[in-house]
Amino acid sequence: MQEDAQDASVEFPKDFLWGASTSAHQVEGGNHNQWTVWELAHAAEKAKTAQQRYGHLANWEEIKAEVTNPSNYVSGRGTDHYHRYKDDFELLQKLNFNSFRFGIEWSRIEPEEGQWDEKALEHYRQYIEKLKEMDIEPVLNIWHWTVPVWFARRGGFKKKANLKYFDRLVSKISDQYGHLLRYVIVLNEPNVYISFSYLTGAWPPQEKNFLTAARVYYNLARAHKRAYKKLKKDHPAIQIGIAAQLANIQAKRPHNLIDEFSTQLMRDFWNWWFLHHINRHQDFVGLNYYFTDYYTGLFKRENPKTPLNDLGWYMEPEGLYPLMLRAWAHYKKPIIISENGVADSKDQYRQWWMEETIIAMQRAMSEGVDIRGYFHWSLLDNFEWADGWWPRFGLVDIDRKNAMKRTIRPSAKWFAAKIEKLSASK
Ligand code: BGC
Repeated sequence: MQEDAQDASVEFPKDFLWGASTSAHQVEGGNHNQWTVWELAHAAEKAKTAQQRYGHLANWEEIKAEVTNPSNYVSGRGTDHYHRYKDDFELLQKLNFNSFRFGIEWSRIEPEEGQWDEKALEHYRQYIEKLKEMDIEPVLNIWHWTVPVWFARRGGFKKKANLKYFDRLVSKISDQYGHLLRYVIVLNEPNVYISFSYLTGAWPPQEKNFLTAARVYYNLARAHKRAYKKLKKDHPAIQIGIAAQLANIQAKRPHNLIDEFSTQLMRDFWNWWFLHHINRHQDFVGLNYYFTDYYTGLFKRENPKTPLNDLGWYMEPEGLYPLMLRAWAHYKKPIIISENGVADSKDQYRQWWMEETIIAMQRAMSEGVDIRGYFHWSLLDNFEWADGWWPRFGLVDIDRKNAMKRTIRPSAKWFAAKIEKLSASK
Protein backbone atom coordinates (compact mmCIF):
# COMPACT_ATOMS: atom_id res chain seq x y z
CA MET A 1 0.00 0.00 0.00
CA GLN A 2 2.61 2.43 1.12
CA GLU A 3 4.80 1.49 -1.81
CA ASP A 4 1.97 2.11 -4.28
CA ALA A 5 1.34 5.50 -2.75
CA GLN A 6 4.99 6.35 -3.34
CA ASP A 7 4.80 5.16 -6.95
CA ALA A 8 1.80 7.33 -7.64
CA SER A 9 2.99 10.46 -5.93
CA VAL A 10 6.42 10.94 -7.43
CA GLU A 11 6.94 10.18 -11.07
CA PHE A 12 10.27 9.49 -12.60
CA PRO A 13 10.86 11.60 -15.73
CA LYS A 14 9.83 9.90 -18.95
CA ASP A 15 13.37 9.75 -20.24
CA PHE A 16 14.84 8.63 -16.90
CA LEU A 17 17.84 6.40 -17.52
CA TRP A 18 17.35 3.00 -15.89
CA GLY A 19 20.39 0.85 -16.30
CA ALA A 20 23.31 -1.11 -15.02
CA SER A 21 26.95 -0.27 -14.84
CA THR A 22 30.10 -2.25 -15.63
CA SER A 23 33.77 -1.53 -16.24
CA ALA A 24 35.83 -3.03 -19.05
CA HIS A 25 38.51 -4.67 -16.94
CA GLN A 26 36.04 -6.22 -14.53
CA VAL A 27 34.07 -8.10 -17.17
CA GLU A 28 35.81 -8.32 -20.52
CA GLY A 29 38.52 -10.92 -19.95
CA GLY A 30 41.74 -11.28 -21.94
CA ASN A 31 43.13 -7.87 -21.02
CA HIS A 32 46.74 -6.88 -20.66
CA ASN A 33 47.22 -3.77 -18.57
CA GLN A 34 48.95 -2.63 -15.37
CA TRP A 35 46.33 -4.48 -13.28
CA THR A 36 46.69 -7.86 -15.00
CA VAL A 37 50.46 -7.68 -14.56
CA TRP A 38 49.98 -6.93 -10.88
CA GLU A 39 47.32 -9.63 -10.41
CA LEU A 40 49.63 -12.33 -11.71
CA ALA A 41 52.50 -11.14 -9.56
CA HIS A 42 50.45 -11.14 -6.35
CA ALA A 43 47.84 -13.89 -6.67
CA ALA A 44 49.77 -16.56 -4.75
CA GLU A 45 50.66 -14.27 -1.87
CA LYS A 46 47.09 -12.99 -1.65
CA ALA A 47 45.73 -16.52 -1.48
CA LYS A 48 48.14 -17.30 1.35
CA THR A 49 47.20 -14.24 3.36
CA ALA A 50 43.44 -14.46 2.75
CA GLN A 51 42.55 -15.31 6.32
CA GLN A 52 44.15 -12.10 7.59
CA ARG A 53 41.90 -10.08 5.32
CA TYR A 54 38.69 -12.06 5.44
CA GLY A 55 38.90 -14.26 8.53
CA HIS A 56 36.70 -11.86 10.52
CA LEU A 57 33.82 -11.98 8.04
CA ALA A 58 30.64 -13.83 9.00
CA ASN A 59 30.79 -15.76 5.73
CA TRP A 60 34.43 -16.85 6.14
CA GLU A 61 33.63 -20.58 6.06
CA GLU A 62 31.66 -20.12 2.85
CA ILE A 63 34.29 -18.11 1.01
CA LYS A 64 37.36 -19.86 2.41
CA ALA A 65 37.94 -22.24 -0.50
CA GLU A 66 37.58 -19.46 -3.04
CA VAL A 67 39.72 -16.82 -1.36
CA THR A 68 42.57 -19.19 -0.56
CA ASN A 69 42.80 -20.14 -4.22
CA PRO A 70 45.18 -17.93 -6.25
CA SER A 71 42.89 -18.04 -9.30
CA ASN A 72 40.42 -15.86 -7.35
CA TYR A 73 42.82 -12.96 -7.77
CA VAL A 74 43.37 -13.21 -11.52
CA SER A 75 40.93 -11.54 -13.91
CA GLY A 76 41.92 -13.97 -16.69
CA ARG A 77 39.03 -14.73 -19.00
CA GLY A 78 36.81 -12.33 -17.10
CA THR A 79 33.16 -13.05 -17.72
CA ASP A 80 34.00 -13.21 -21.42
CA HIS A 81 31.85 -10.15 -21.93
CA TYR A 82 34.20 -9.08 -24.73
CA HIS A 83 32.80 -11.91 -26.83
CA ARG A 84 29.35 -12.32 -25.29
CA TYR A 85 28.31 -8.72 -25.23
CA LYS A 86 25.32 -9.25 -27.51
CA ASP A 87 23.90 -11.88 -25.15
CA ASP A 88 24.55 -9.56 -22.24
CA PHE A 89 22.70 -6.74 -23.98
CA GLU A 90 19.74 -9.07 -24.27
CA LEU A 91 19.88 -9.40 -20.51
CA LEU A 92 19.63 -5.62 -20.29
CA GLN A 93 16.48 -5.77 -22.38
CA LYS A 94 15.02 -8.52 -20.25
CA LEU A 95 15.60 -6.34 -17.21
CA ASN A 96 13.72 -3.42 -18.82
CA PHE A 97 16.80 -1.20 -18.86
CA ASN A 98 17.01 1.63 -21.36
CA SER A 99 20.67 2.47 -20.76
CA PHE A 100 24.03 0.92 -19.97
CA ARG A 101 27.26 2.29 -18.53
CA PHE A 102 30.33 0.48 -19.84
CA GLY A 103 34.04 1.05 -20.26
CA ILE A 104 36.52 1.20 -23.08
CA GLU A 105 39.77 -0.58 -22.26
CA TRP A 106 42.58 1.80 -23.21
CA SER A 107 45.18 -1.01 -23.37
CA ARG A 108 43.16 -2.76 -26.05
CA ILE A 109 42.84 0.17 -28.40
CA GLU A 110 46.38 1.50 -27.84
CA PRO A 111 48.39 -1.55 -26.76
CA GLU A 112 51.68 0.17 -27.58
CA GLU A 113 52.30 3.87 -27.39
CA GLY A 114 50.89 5.56 -30.48
CA GLN A 115 49.83 2.28 -32.11
CA TRP A 116 46.10 1.98 -32.46
CA ASP A 117 44.52 -1.42 -32.81
CA GLU A 118 41.96 -1.06 -35.59
CA LYS A 119 40.22 -4.32 -34.70
CA ALA A 120 39.70 -3.24 -31.11
CA LEU A 121 38.46 0.17 -32.25
CA GLU A 122 36.03 -1.55 -34.57
CA HIS A 123 34.90 -3.84 -31.76
CA TYR A 124 33.83 -0.93 -29.58
CA ARG A 125 32.15 0.76 -32.54
CA GLN A 126 30.03 -2.33 -33.13
CA TYR A 127 29.43 -2.59 -29.40
CA ILE A 128 28.04 0.94 -29.20
CA GLU A 129 26.09 0.58 -32.41
CA LYS A 130 24.52 -2.62 -31.12
CA LEU A 131 23.34 -0.86 -27.97
CA LYS A 132 21.79 1.90 -30.06
CA GLU A 133 20.16 -0.56 -32.38
CA MET A 134 18.56 -2.14 -29.30
CA ASP A 135 17.39 1.27 -28.01
CA ILE A 136 19.73 1.17 -25.07
CA GLU A 137 21.46 4.47 -24.35
CA PRO A 138 25.23 3.94 -24.26
CA VAL A 139 26.99 5.74 -21.42
CA LEU A 140 30.66 5.46 -22.21
CA ASN A 141 33.19 5.52 -19.40
CA ILE A 142 36.68 6.44 -20.59
CA TRP A 143 38.89 5.60 -17.59
CA HIS A 144 38.10 3.14 -14.82
CA TRP A 145 41.50 2.71 -13.14
CA THR A 146 43.29 0.56 -15.71
CA VAL A 147 46.00 1.89 -18.01
CA PRO A 148 48.25 0.29 -20.64
CA VAL A 149 51.51 -1.11 -19.33
CA TRP A 150 53.54 1.39 -21.40
CA PHE A 151 51.67 4.31 -19.78
CA ALA A 152 52.23 2.89 -16.28
CA ARG A 153 55.97 2.49 -17.07
CA ARG A 154 56.15 6.14 -17.97
CA GLY A 155 54.80 6.99 -14.51
CA GLY A 156 51.09 7.10 -15.35
CA PHE A 157 49.19 10.06 -13.96
CA LYS A 158 52.04 11.00 -11.65
CA LYS A 159 53.54 13.10 -14.40
CA LYS A 160 51.81 16.07 -15.86
CA ALA A 161 53.76 15.53 -19.07
CA ASN A 162 51.95 12.19 -19.48
CA LEU A 163 48.57 13.87 -19.78
CA LYS A 164 49.23 14.30 -23.49
CA TYR A 165 48.72 10.53 -23.86
CA PHE A 166 45.37 10.73 -22.15
CA ASP A 167 44.47 13.71 -24.36
CA ARG A 168 45.27 11.60 -27.38
CA LEU A 169 43.07 8.77 -26.09
CA VAL A 170 40.21 11.20 -25.60
CA SER A 171 40.68 12.59 -29.13
CA LYS A 172 40.58 9.09 -30.54
CA ILE A 173 37.39 8.26 -28.66
CA SER A 174 35.86 11.55 -29.69
CA ASP A 175 36.70 10.95 -33.38
CA GLN A 176 35.61 7.36 -33.41
CA TYR A 177 32.52 7.33 -31.25
CA GLY A 178 31.56 10.88 -30.32
CA HIS A 179 28.81 11.10 -32.92
CA LEU A 180 27.15 8.02 -31.38
CA LEU A 181 27.08 9.28 -27.82
CA ARG A 182 24.94 11.50 -25.61
CA TYR A 183 26.65 10.72 -22.31
CA VAL A 184 30.30 10.35 -21.42
CA ILE A 185 31.84 9.69 -18.03
CA VAL A 186 35.52 10.60 -18.22
CA LEU A 187 36.86 9.26 -14.92
CA ASN A 188 35.69 6.75 -12.36
CA GLU A 189 36.25 7.52 -8.68
CA PRO A 190 39.56 9.40 -8.66
CA ASN A 191 39.40 9.55 -4.83
CA VAL A 192 39.28 5.77 -4.48
CA TYR A 193 42.09 5.38 -7.00
CA ILE A 194 44.52 7.75 -5.32
CA SER A 195 43.69 6.29 -1.90
CA PHE A 196 44.41 2.66 -2.76
CA SER A 197 47.09 3.15 -5.40
CA TYR A 198 49.06 6.00 -3.80
CA LEU A 199 48.13 6.27 -0.12
CA THR A 200 47.46 2.84 1.38
CA GLY A 201 49.50 1.02 -1.26
CA ALA A 202 46.90 -1.74 -1.62
CA TRP A 203 46.63 -1.44 -5.42
CA PRO A 204 49.15 -1.04 -8.20
CA PRO A 205 51.56 0.72 -8.27
CA GLN A 206 51.42 0.29 -4.46
CA GLU A 207 52.91 3.62 -3.50
CA LYS A 208 52.35 5.24 -0.14
CA ASN A 209 53.17 8.86 -0.48
CA PHE A 210 50.86 11.73 0.30
CA LEU A 211 52.55 14.15 -2.09
CA THR A 212 52.45 11.69 -4.95
CA ALA A 213 48.78 11.01 -4.24
CA ALA A 214 48.07 14.74 -4.31
CA ARG A 215 49.97 15.12 -7.58
CA VAL A 216 48.00 12.27 -9.19
CA TYR A 217 44.76 13.85 -7.95
CA TYR A 218 45.60 17.20 -9.50
CA ASN A 219 46.66 15.56 -12.73
CA LEU A 220 43.43 13.59 -12.93
CA ALA A 221 41.49 16.82 -12.44
CA ARG A 222 43.56 18.40 -15.25
CA ALA A 223 43.03 15.35 -17.45
CA HIS A 224 39.29 15.59 -16.89
CA LYS A 225 39.08 19.28 -17.71
CA ARG A 226 41.07 18.82 -20.89
CA ALA A 227 38.88 15.88 -21.90
CA TYR A 228 35.76 17.93 -21.23
CA LYS A 229 36.97 20.80 -23.41
CA LYS A 230 37.93 18.51 -26.28
CA LEU A 231 34.71 16.51 -26.24
CA LYS A 232 32.57 19.63 -25.95
CA LYS A 233 34.39 21.27 -28.83
CA ASP A 234 33.89 18.24 -31.04
CA HIS A 235 30.39 17.31 -29.89
CA PRO A 236 28.69 20.12 -27.97
CA ALA A 237 25.59 18.06 -27.22
CA ILE A 238 27.35 15.31 -25.28
CA GLN A 239 26.64 15.45 -21.55
CA ILE A 240 29.86 14.95 -19.66
CA GLY A 241 30.71 14.17 -16.04
CA ILE A 242 32.68 11.87 -13.80
CA ALA A 243 31.54 9.03 -11.55
CA ALA A 244 32.38 10.27 -8.06
CA GLN A 245 32.42 7.94 -5.10
CA LEU A 246 30.49 9.93 -2.51
CA ALA A 247 29.82 8.69 0.99
CA ASN A 248 27.05 9.80 3.29
CA ILE A 249 29.43 10.95 6.02
CA GLN A 250 27.82 11.73 9.38
CA ALA A 251 28.99 12.52 12.88
CA LYS A 252 28.46 9.68 15.31
CA ARG A 253 27.67 12.24 18.02
CA PRO A 254 26.32 15.29 16.19
CA HIS A 255 26.70 17.49 19.28
CA ASN A 256 30.36 16.61 19.69
CA LEU A 257 32.84 19.15 18.31
CA ILE A 258 35.56 16.66 17.44
CA ASP A 259 33.12 14.29 15.70
CA GLU A 260 31.75 17.25 13.74
CA PHE A 261 35.25 18.43 12.85
CA SER A 262 36.25 15.01 11.48
CA THR A 263 32.97 14.73 9.63
CA GLN A 264 33.32 18.11 7.92
CA LEU A 265 36.90 17.47 6.93
CA MET A 266 36.12 14.02 5.57
CA ARG A 267 33.21 15.41 3.58
CA ASP A 268 35.37 18.16 2.14
CA PHE A 269 38.27 15.90 1.33
CA TRP A 270 36.52 12.72 0.23
CA ASN A 271 33.33 14.00 -1.36
CA TRP A 272 33.75 17.55 -2.58
CA TRP A 273 37.38 18.38 -3.33
CA PHE A 274 37.48 16.88 -6.79
CA LEU A 275 33.96 17.88 -7.80
CA HIS A 276 34.57 21.48 -6.72
CA HIS A 277 37.71 21.49 -8.83
CA ILE A 278 36.04 20.30 -11.99
CA ASN A 279 32.63 21.85 -11.44
CA ARG A 280 32.85 24.19 -14.41
CA HIS A 281 33.66 21.14 -16.49
CA GLN A 282 30.78 18.84 -15.69
CA ASP A 283 27.25 18.82 -17.06
CA PHE A 284 25.95 16.42 -14.46
CA VAL A 285 27.11 15.00 -11.16
CA GLY A 286 27.73 11.27 -11.50
CA LEU A 287 27.37 9.74 -8.08
CA ASN A 288 28.46 6.26 -6.99
CA TYR A 289 26.85 5.42 -3.67
CA TYR A 290 27.77 2.49 -1.44
CA PHE A 291 28.70 3.91 1.95
CA THR A 292 27.21 5.65 4.94
CA ASP A 293 29.98 6.26 7.44
CA TYR A 294 29.76 7.59 10.98
CA TYR A 295 32.81 9.43 12.26
CA THR A 296 33.86 9.85 15.82
CA GLY A 297 36.96 11.27 17.53
CA LEU A 298 39.77 12.04 15.14
CA PHE A 299 38.78 10.37 11.88
CA LYS A 300 37.63 7.15 13.46
CA ARG A 301 34.93 5.38 11.53
CA GLU A 302 32.43 3.66 13.80
CA ASN A 303 29.49 2.17 11.95
CA PRO A 304 26.62 0.08 13.26
CA LYS A 305 27.46 -3.62 13.33
CA THR A 306 24.54 -4.66 11.12
CA PRO A 307 23.38 -5.03 8.43
CA LEU A 308 26.59 -5.89 6.59
CA ASN A 309 27.05 -7.08 3.03
CA ASP A 310 29.29 -10.00 2.06
CA LEU A 311 32.36 -7.77 2.13
CA GLY A 312 31.51 -6.62 5.65
CA TRP A 313 30.41 -3.17 4.46
CA TYR A 314 27.72 -1.53 6.58
CA MET A 315 24.56 -0.99 4.50
CA GLU A 316 22.34 2.06 4.76
CA PRO A 317 20.75 2.47 1.32
CA GLU A 318 18.59 5.41 2.40
CA GLY A 319 21.80 7.36 3.07
CA LEU A 320 21.64 8.21 -0.60
CA TYR A 321 18.92 10.74 0.20
CA PRO A 322 20.90 13.24 2.31
CA LEU A 323 23.83 12.77 -0.02
CA MET A 324 21.82 13.71 -3.11
CA LEU A 325 20.45 16.73 -1.29
CA ARG A 326 23.98 17.89 -0.51
CA ALA A 327 25.25 17.27 -4.05
CA TRP A 328 22.27 19.22 -5.38
CA ALA A 329 22.79 22.07 -2.93
CA HIS A 330 26.45 22.33 -3.93
CA TYR A 331 26.21 22.14 -7.70
CA LYS A 332 22.59 22.55 -8.83
CA LYS A 333 23.34 20.19 -11.67
CA PRO A 334 21.44 17.08 -12.73
CA ILE A 335 22.45 13.98 -10.81
CA ILE A 336 23.01 10.56 -12.28
CA ILE A 337 23.47 7.67 -9.88
CA SER A 338 26.28 6.08 -11.84
CA GLU A 339 26.80 3.14 -9.45
CA ASN A 340 24.96 1.64 -6.51
CA GLY A 341 24.74 -1.93 -5.29
CA VAL A 342 25.68 -4.67 -2.84
CA ALA A 343 27.96 -7.68 -2.65
CA ASP A 344 25.32 -10.28 -1.85
CA SER A 345 25.92 -13.82 -3.09
CA LYS A 346 22.68 -15.11 -1.55
CA ASP A 347 20.65 -12.26 -3.01
CA GLN A 348 19.09 -11.61 0.39
CA TYR A 349 19.61 -7.86 0.63
CA ARG A 350 19.62 -6.61 -2.98
CA GLN A 351 15.87 -6.12 -3.39
CA TRP A 352 15.58 -4.30 -0.06
CA TRP A 353 18.57 -2.13 -1.04
CA MET A 354 17.01 -1.17 -4.38
CA GLU A 355 13.60 -0.57 -2.85
CA GLU A 356 15.07 1.83 -0.29
CA THR A 357 17.11 3.46 -3.03
CA ILE A 358 14.09 4.09 -5.22
CA ILE A 359 12.29 5.66 -2.28
CA ALA A 360 15.34 7.81 -1.51
CA MET A 361 15.33 9.03 -5.12
CA GLN A 362 11.59 9.74 -5.06
CA ARG A 363 11.96 11.65 -1.84
CA ALA A 364 14.81 13.76 -3.19
CA MET A 365 12.92 14.37 -6.45
CA SER A 366 9.85 15.49 -4.54
CA GLU A 367 12.06 18.14 -2.99
CA GLY A 368 13.25 19.39 -6.34
CA VAL A 369 16.45 17.43 -6.88
CA ASP A 370 16.94 16.81 -10.59
CA ILE A 371 17.82 13.11 -10.91
CA ARG A 372 18.25 11.81 -14.43
CA GLY A 373 19.33 8.22 -14.10
CA TYR A 374 20.11 5.19 -11.96
CA PHE A 375 22.74 2.59 -12.87
CA HIS A 376 22.92 -0.45 -10.66
CA TRP A 377 26.34 -1.92 -9.93
CA SER A 378 26.54 -4.29 -11.55
CA LEU A 379 24.93 -6.12 -14.43
CA LEU A 380 27.14 -9.18 -13.95
CA ASP A 381 29.10 -10.75 -11.13
CA ASN A 382 32.54 -9.45 -11.90
CA PHE A 383 36.18 -9.10 -10.93
CA GLU A 384 36.20 -7.03 -7.75
CA TRP A 385 39.75 -5.66 -8.10
CA ALA A 386 42.07 -6.69 -5.25
CA ASP A 387 39.33 -8.88 -3.74
CA GLY A 388 39.00 -10.85 -6.95
CA TRP A 389 36.03 -12.92 -8.01
CA TRP A 390 34.35 -13.93 -4.76
CA PRO A 391 32.21 -10.81 -4.04
CA ARG A 392 29.00 -11.04 -6.07
CA PHE A 393 27.62 -7.67 -7.11
CA GLY A 394 25.66 -8.88 -10.13
CA LEU A 395 22.00 -8.58 -10.95
CA VAL A 396 22.99 -11.58 -13.00
CA ASP A 397 24.85 -14.50 -11.47
CA ILE A 398 27.82 -15.83 -13.42
CA ASP A 399 28.71 -19.46 -12.94
CA ARG A 400 32.41 -19.40 -13.71
CA LYS A 401 32.69 -23.15 -13.26
CA ASN A 402 29.94 -23.84 -15.70
CA ALA A 403 30.75 -22.12 -19.00
CA MET A 404 30.08 -18.74 -17.40
CA LYS A 405 26.40 -19.39 -17.47
CA ARG A 406 24.32 -16.29 -16.83
CA THR A 407 21.29 -16.49 -14.49
CA ILE A 408 19.14 -13.52 -13.60
CA ARG A 409 18.81 -13.21 -9.82
CA PRO A 410 15.34 -12.94 -8.23
CA SER A 411 16.02 -9.39 -7.02
CA ALA A 412 16.78 -8.36 -10.60
CA LYS A 413 13.44 -9.75 -11.73
CA TRP A 414 11.79 -7.73 -9.01
CA PHE A 415 13.67 -4.64 -10.17
CA ALA A 416 12.64 -5.20 -13.80
CA ALA A 417 8.98 -5.37 -12.77
CA LYS A 418 9.40 -2.27 -10.64
CA ILE A 419 10.88 -0.29 -13.52
CA GLU A 420 8.01 -1.33 -15.72
CA LYS A 421 5.53 -0.14 -13.11
CA LEU A 422 7.33 3.14 -12.52
CA SER A 423 7.45 3.80 -16.25
CA ALA A 424 3.83 2.79 -16.85
CA SER A 425 2.43 5.44 -14.53
CA LYS A 426 3.03 8.10 -17.24
C1 BGC B 1 33.96 0.83 -8.41
C2 BGC B 1 33.72 -0.53 -9.01
C3 BGC B 1 33.66 -1.57 -7.91
C4 BGC B 1 32.51 -1.21 -6.98
C5 BGC B 1 32.30 -2.18 -5.83
C6 BGC B 1 33.18 1.10 -7.16
O1 BGC B 1 33.99 1.74 -6.23
O2 BGC B 1 33.81 1.84 -9.37
O3 BGC B 1 34.71 -0.79 -9.95
O4 BGC B 1 33.54 -2.85 -8.39
O5 BGC B 1 32.73 0.04 -6.41
O6 BGC B 1 33.38 -2.15 -4.97
